[in-house]
Parts: sequence; structure tokens; C-alpha cells
Amino acid sequence: MKPIQVGLLGIGTVGSGTFTVLNRNQEEIRRRAGRGIEISMVADLDVERARGIVGDRARVVADAREVIANPEIDIVVELIGGYGIAKTLVLEAIAAGKHVVTANKALLAVHGTEIFEAARLRGVMVAFEAAVAGGIPIIKALREGLTANRIEWVAGIINGTTNFILSEMRSKGLDFAAVLKQAQALGYAEADPTFDIEGVDAAHKATIMSAIAFGVPVQFDKAYVEGITALQAADIRYAEQLGYRIKLLGITKRRQHGIELRVHPTLVPSQRLIANVEGAMNAVVVQGDAVGSTLYYGKGAGAEPTASAVVADLVDITRLHTADPDHRVPHLAFQPGSLQDTPI
Ligand code: HSE
Repeated sequence: MKPIQVGLLGIGTVGSGTFTVLNRNQEEIRRRAGRGIEISMVADLDVERARGIVGDRARVVADAREVIANPEIDIVVELIGGYGIAKTLVLEAIAAGKHVVTANKALLAVHGTEIFEAARLRGVMVAFEAAVAGGIPIIKALREGLTANRIEWVAGIINGTTNFILSEMRSKGLDFAAVLKQAQALGYAEADPTFDIEGVDAAHKATIMSAIAFGVPVQFDKAYVEGITALQAADIRYAEQLGYRIKLLGITKRRQHGIELRVHPTLVPSQRLIANVEGAMNAVVVQGDAVGSTLYYGKGAGAEPTASAVVADLVDITRLHTADPDHRVPHLAFQPGSLQDTPI
């Protein structure tokens, strides 16, 4: 069967990571999806830069609508970010009958209800594992692995930039501005780091988790959002002396009269696992009535961790919507032969 055809809108860190992962693990991915996955088109305003990244692996165009209008393209991956043109293009891709994969947490937290409804009516999938906590499969955990549970609450470190800043301020006694510059240089921070340090990025992600955990529409406008800009080195020091670490947590909780949704610096007892999540790492705790407390930990940003989630979505869509029925249930890709014969 011909590989499923993918068009990328916007190529930067995550886009090039997606090429790398698809290429490196091509054989396993094809076996698991039941069909090959090929990025055949890329749209980016900066065509020259995009060509430099893509080489001859895909056709590069300046106009995203060329990708959407191409009948050969089955899945559109939106990696532009933001609420503006990304929203228009995602809705146009859905209207054109394309499945959509997006890493755009801002877009989904604010316009998710409209986008998911459009996709439902058109019978296509919008997949977004990469939008929350990068490579940690938290969307799958909430939606599938924990589906038997009544979720009580979800709380997590879901912004790597701020966790990196708080960790460096605590361990090295550095000041806020110097560490923020480092986080930008390392590629963790958003183009506009205000979203990171003011808690907006974490609130976008918490909003999406809240909607999935509690089956409510996305309601970013109802979130309480407080970032880390008012924190001083002394706050971090005093917290430590009292046996706490300060973490920027995204929290969503079932209450008697509704759902709580908030992001703010939180004092976490130092002996808790989540208090020891340092640097740009992310971690999410989910409390379910049947399973109890579960913890998910990993890289929340960066080229390949985020690409890991994008490719997982591509595999899911391929398996569910386009591969032969044998592949609808994830199979274990067993190969004949003993452990010793299996190439690794
Ligand atoms: N700026 C985000 C972070 C990137 O620091 O976590 C991943 O969403």
C-alpha cells in the first residue's frame, strides 16, 4: 500500500525532529501503523530556510493552502503555533477532509471546542498529543489508559522553561533574567517567553487536560493564571529552609460545584517526587478513583520528544482511519525468530 501522505505547515524545531524520527524508525513505524508514513509536502513562508532543513525529502512551498488543496495529502500537521492563521488553516484542512495533527496548545485551549466540533461534523480526527507535556503521552493516558476512572484531579509541571528557571535559581542561586536567557538559548521558551513566565503556556496545557479529564469544553478564559515573575531568590531560599520547593503547577480538580482550573507557584514538600523534577523536565500526577495516584515524567519540549508525540498521532490516524482492519487494534509487531536473532 502506498504510504500515507503528510503535509507539514511550518517547519522549525519540531518539524525537523519529525522528519528525523520518521526516517530513523521508518521500519518499526511502518509495521506498527500497518502502512508507511511519508511527509511529502512542507509549507513555510521562508522557503529557502525550509529547503535547507528538508533537502530533497519533500516538496517545499510558501503557501500552506497548496498543501491543504492537494488531494494526495491525507494528514495535515500544523506546527505554526498561535491563535491567528493557524486557526484558519486548521479549519480549512478539516473542511477539505484532512485529518489534522497539531502541537498548538494555545489554539486548542482557546478555540478547541469549535475545532473539535468541525472535525466531528466532517468525520476527521484532530490529534494533539504533542500539545501537552511534549513527549509524555499524557493525552493518551487520560483518554485511554485511565478511561475506567472517575478522575479526581490532575496536577503537573507542564512548562519546562519555568521549571528550568526555578531549578537554576534554587540550585545555583542565579537570578531570574540570566536563567531566562539560558532557557531561550536552549530552545525551551516560546517565541514570546511572556507566555512561559506568566503561566499562560501552562494554563493552555492545563485547560486541555481539564477538558479531557472531566469531559468539559475547553475554558481557558475561566483559568486562574499566575506566573513566576514575582518570585525572588529569597522566596525560593525560605521555601527550602521550611522543607518545600516552589513549583509552577497546573492544577485541575473536581469540586462539588464544578471544576477548578489554576496555574500558580506552589509550595511542594521537598520529599514529594514532583518536587524533585528539575530542569526543563515535565511531570504530571493524575488521581483516579480506581487506579489511585499515577505519575508521568519526561521531556516536555525539544525537537525529538515533541516529534515523538507528533509521530504517535500520525501512527494512530494511519491505524484507525486508513490501514487495513488488522491494524486497528495496536499489535505488538511480533516478528518471527528468537530474541537472539532479532536485530536491535
Ligand atoms: N515553552 C514550552 C515549555 C515548550 O517551556 O514547556 C513546550 O510546550
